[in-house]
Amino acid sequence: MWFAQAPANIALIKYMGKMDPIKNIPANPSLSYTLDNLLSFVEIEKSTGNVDRWEPLQIPGAGAFSLSDFAQKRFLEHLSHMKSVYQYSGHLVVRSCNNFPTGSGLASSASSFAALTKCASLALSEITGQEQKSLDELANLSRTGSGSSCRSFYSPWALWDDTSVQSLELSYSNLIHHVILISKDEKLVSSSAAHQLVVSSPFYAERPTRAKDNLRTCLDALYNKNWDVLYNVVWREFMDMHNLFATCEEPFSYITDETRGILDDIARYWETHGDGPLVTMDAGPNIHLLFRDDQQELANHFRLFLLKDHDIL
Ligand code: PMV
Repeated sequence: MWFAQAPANIALIKYMGKMDPIKNIPANPSLSYTLDNLLSFVEIEKSTGNVDRWEPLQIPGAGAFSLSDFAQKRFLEHLSHMKSVYQYSGHLVVRSCNNFPTGSGLASSASSFAALTKCASLALSEITGQEQKSLDELANLSRTGSGSSCRSFYSPWALWDDTSVQSLELSYSNLIHHVILISKDEKLVSSSAAHQLVVSSPFYAERPTRAKDNLRTCLDALYNKNWDVLYNVVWREFMDMHNLFATCEEPFSYITDETRGILDDIARYWETHGDGPLVTMDAGPNIHLLFRDDQQELANHFRLFLLKDHDIL
């Protein structure tokens, strides 16, 4: 039996749109912060059956875990790809679970594919007597299952461009992360579908240019410890991605009235106080907040007062 775990990550500069949808080569570079508290766990065992199968991993004390048929199929397809890399034709049982809600825009595919890639590689290298793969090789293999998962191999900051991913030594390496849970439900438009739909937006062609500009500003702000510049560019960036969703031929949106109300409250807090958390959203309705490590009291204040009517993770 083999076991691995991997963290989720939250992108400040978003990966949205692919140059190559088979290999998951992104249309633009992205930058993420690794979320060490949001974890996926994967266990693999040899099977005597004649197919690979997925089962929920039971963790004592944790609730029941489930995956949609679509998510199970994607997971098993990636396992099958890993087996072909190791030229292994036997069958496996793969069990997995997350310690946070799945499929609701909390980057669960990033952590679960990273954990699956690590675990499959451990299992398959031992079964077939092959050498362990390097971190870069694992990240590249994981990318073919879920693009954003390649960033989960690097911490605390990960920069991904084309086929190369690396960790960066930047300031703010100890951020406090909270998620405002607007919905725990499986989202209606998956990020895989979003990558395909956005190409019909009139704003898509110039998206790589805007993302690269935002990345430059973001990195400058991180090198120079310029928190309010960082807040502004991170906000502009997630709004840019959500604007692609709203302007494609079959428009869709994850931003509910509740989401909008909270975003307005946080923007007002920043206007009044000249400080606050970084705010970003993935392809889902939930809002991610990142506080500096010297903002612990502010993070408590947000949780206990400003956001007291909402579920916070
Ligand atoms: O890795 P995917 O195909 O699930 O894409 C994730 C894309 C976003 O989460 C919306 C943005 C990002 O960079 O993580």
